Amino acid sequence: MSAAGPAGTLRIFYALWPDEATRDALHAGQAAWQWPGRARLVPRDKLHLTLHFLGQVPLAQVDALVRAEPVDWRAFECRVDRAGRWGGVAWLAPTQAPEALVRLHEALAGQLVRMGLSYDRRAYAPHVTLAREAFGARPPPHPDPVCWAVEEYALVVSRPGPHGGRYEVLRRWPAGSYS
Ligand code: 2AM
Repeated sequence: MSAAGPAGTLRIFYALWPDEATRDALHAGQAAWQWPGRARLVPRDKLHLTLHFLGQVPLAQVDALVRAEPVDWRAFECRVDRAGRWGGVAWLAPTQAPEALVRLHEALAGQLVRMGLSYDRRAYAPHVTLAREAFGARPPPHPDPVCWAVEEYALVVSRPGPHGGRYEVLRRWPAGSYS
């Protein structure tokens, strides 16, 4: 699935990257579903919430992204309390996206525009993908809410490879690190 992109580019996205405790809780949330045999579950160490998907980015611009100043944002809590499915994509999501998450998303969008980079401009639907090809998967009726203390955002590269490739965090920006 994750074919290598054009030479001299990397597949890039911004994400909320969970700490270990949050990762455990999201993983437990995944285990609470009933999965059909053909569903491709996202491995525990790849669970995340995308902020912006940039697609294939030329290396010079990746470098600029890694060196970018943090945007103005504050730590916040995101209550991930809803389980659902869009066709074959199964997810966990906040019923109500926290205002601070929406503002962080917008602040990053502004920075990307200033840097002349394009990104996916569809309406933002924050979610943690749990599985793909999950047609018929059954979510738990009352998922245990995951209280995610968001203290950093991250720039991530998706490297091609077997089993959907792997993700590598290029840089993290902790809350309150802007000047
Ligand atoms: P998904 O979890 O909803 O599939 C790395 O691939 C991350 O970027 C995933 O979280 C994925 O979202 C998201 N992503 C991949 N392709 C995308 C696209 N074309 N538009 C928006 N997000 C995308």
